[in-house]
Amino acid sequence: MSFMNKTEAQARILKLRQEIDFYREQYHVYDREVISPAALDSLKHELYTLEQQYPELITPNSPTQRVAGRALEKFAKVEHQSRMLSLEDVFSWEEIRDWEGRMKRILPNQKFDYYCELKMDGLAISLIYEYGVLKQAATRGDGFVGEDVTQNIKTIEAIPLSISDPSPRVEVRGEAFIDKKTFVRLNRERAAEGLEAFANPRNLAAGSIRQLDSNLVAARGLSFMAYGLFTDLGQKTHQEEHQILQKLGFRTGKHDEHCSSIEAVWKFCEKWKGAKRENLPYEIDGVVIMTNNLSLYEKLGVVGKTPRYAVAYKFPAVEKTTIVKEIVLQLGRTGALTPVAILDPVEVAGSTISRATLHNFEEIKRLDLRLGDTVIIQKAGDVIPKIVQVLTNLRSGKEKIFKMPSHCPNCESELSQKPGEVLLYCLNKKCFSKQRRALLHFIKTVEIDGIGEKNLDVFVENNLLDSIDDLYQLAVGDLLTLPGFAEKKAQNIIDNLRNKKQLNAVKFLAALNIRHVGIETARDLLEQWRDQLTWPLSPLDFWKFISALKSEDFLSINGIGENTVASLLEYFADDHQEKLWRKLSDLGVRLASGFRTFSPNGKNSGMTLAGKRFVVTGTLEKWQREEVKDLIVSFGGKVSSSVSAKVDYLLAGAEAGQKRLQAEKLGVKIITEGEFLQMIK
Ligand code: IVH
Repeated sequence: MSFMNKTEAQARILKLRQEIDFYREQYHVYDREVISPAALDSLKHELYTLEQQYPELITPNSPTQRVAGRALEKFAKVEHQSRMLSLEDVFSWEEIRDWEGRMKRILPNQKFDYYCELKMDGLAISLIYEYGVLKQAATRGDGFVGEDVTQNIKTIEAIPLSISDPSPRVEVRGEAFIDKKTFVRLNRERAAEGLEAFANPRNLAAGSIRQLDSNLVAARGLSFMAYGLFTDLGQKTHQEEHQILQKLGFRTGKHDEHCSSIEAVWKFCEKWKGAKRENLPYEIDGVVIMTNNLSLYEKLGVVGKTPRYAVAYKFPAVEKTTIVKEIVLQLGRTGALTPVAILDPVEVAGSTISRATLHNFEEIKRLDLRLGDTVIIQKAGDVIPKIVQVLTNLRSGKEKIFKMPSHCPNCESELSQKPGEVLLYCLNKKCFSKQRRALLHFIKTVEIDGIGEKNLDVFVENNLLDSIDDLYQLAVGDLLTLPGFAEKKAQNIIDNLRNKKQLNAVKFLAALNIRHVGIETARDLLEQWRDQLTWPLSPLDFWKFISALKSEDFLSINGIGENTVASLLEYFADDHQEKLWRKLSDLGVRLASGFRTFSPNGKNSGMTLAGKRFVVTGTLEKWQREEVKDLIVSFGGKVSSSVSAKVDYLLAGAEAGQKRLQAEKLGVKIITEGEFLQMIK
């Protein structure tokens, strides 16, 4: 966030505290997740950072200074013999190093080693064993006083009812949690009963342990992972604590590791922050990093609610909070204007985000978004980041309402809205930016090498290019007049263009900026038309064929919906476009079907995939995904974008994720690149 002076910081701190406290109470006391834990962490971190900048503004009631959660009335209260502490969160390698630095300043001659544990996303529980028998189980509550949940905890089979150590009192602490499978099963059962689903396994675990009827708890299949032994049974290190706990019959983290340096700690964190954790049967939300040598704990001491001997590394959040600085309009290749939020740069899931699309102007209204607002942005995997919520309570009053534009920011012509549509359009066909995008889209889609954005701009600025047909009229001499274009470079570009006069019809259709007609739709259309045309053919002949079609002809094609039909009818009724297709024909552009033809002797007809439907997913080794799709089509097969029962094969590369699961569920055959190669050999 940008720098704030003290008065601004004070106002912001007060707002943040109120807001965090509200969410905390909802989450910890009532098990209601009003905001995602990641977004809440992000607000807490902002508060923490501001308080570090102005330590004089820290007050004892700040959320940074206390453990969340008040004991509910329904269970008996239990006073903890030693306070149940919480951990300071760290979010990066730098913060982990800083933490080690702080400890080294306190104990300069000390050698540190560490124990790293996966941080279970559940509920902390303290277990008291007297003379080997489980006597009491309690939740953390506020750290001093928790709730007696012994009856409920006894239903968890991962917790031994008796242990082999006969000491008068042994205290074990750990996390009660629910694994992913059980979570899915329970939510399915709840849905069948018409009940609201639990937001996440943590909420379900917490909600279950607070059930008054322990029979209900038993049905919920909770588990427990022990992480701390709070009685001296001879352990010298945290690692030994884990070993003793295992011997006593507790489940401990099997992936937990001893690390002899802070660098090794970071390696452990990096190993688990990625996709690896998706394969775990339970949710984790970070790594707990403990100094291993127990004799240091007292020397290092406790600050407020958190000990210095440990920190919790939180995985990069998929949700973060930031501020919307500006909203700009981005002109797309169809002339549609998309509002884009310019953000105070913030790191989300490993990458810095400074822009987020708002899709359309209705979305701004729906979110009630104003300039200067604090927002939650979300990024899931490789999906583009989006704004999911505006935190209106954090407004200072200085936020500005965004004014809907009436004119194109580029060419100033009046914008128009089509009936029933939420998008605004610039209908000026000459609008520079729109033109540029349209050209770039064509060049990329039909794969003309050597003309990237930079060259394109030079061509357009020098009035060499105005429309797609101009591309095929360029000559070496035109280019030689331009700065930085020597003979060879110019010749190469012109050669590339000549080589691209024979175009694949699917790509040609997808390259023309017809709304709703991307590569998949173009493929669907061509699959239907390929046998009705004689290939190769000129764009003009293709135009004549398509423009003679009626709405019903389009609609009968698999995968073509009403919006696409409307847009096709509009495009193929436009004289301006017809002129373009005619010009391209005159310039020698020809279209090939992109499909293999039958060879007369039958056997290897080239249509080996005829009638088979494929979905392609994951990262492939030999090909780009689009290349494989072209191959499938060229061998007579069909390509779908999603897995359904109609699909015959899922061609799955590395990290195939959701689609693989879906295919497994539906019994769709999953094949590798190698197997696919065999099919077309
Ligand atoms: S060690 C002083 N190990 O995370 C507390 N904690 O934010 C030392 N947690 O209060 C805790 N998994 O409830 C430890 N493997 C693990 C954990 C773990 C989850 C929880 C625990 C703790 C909180 C700290």
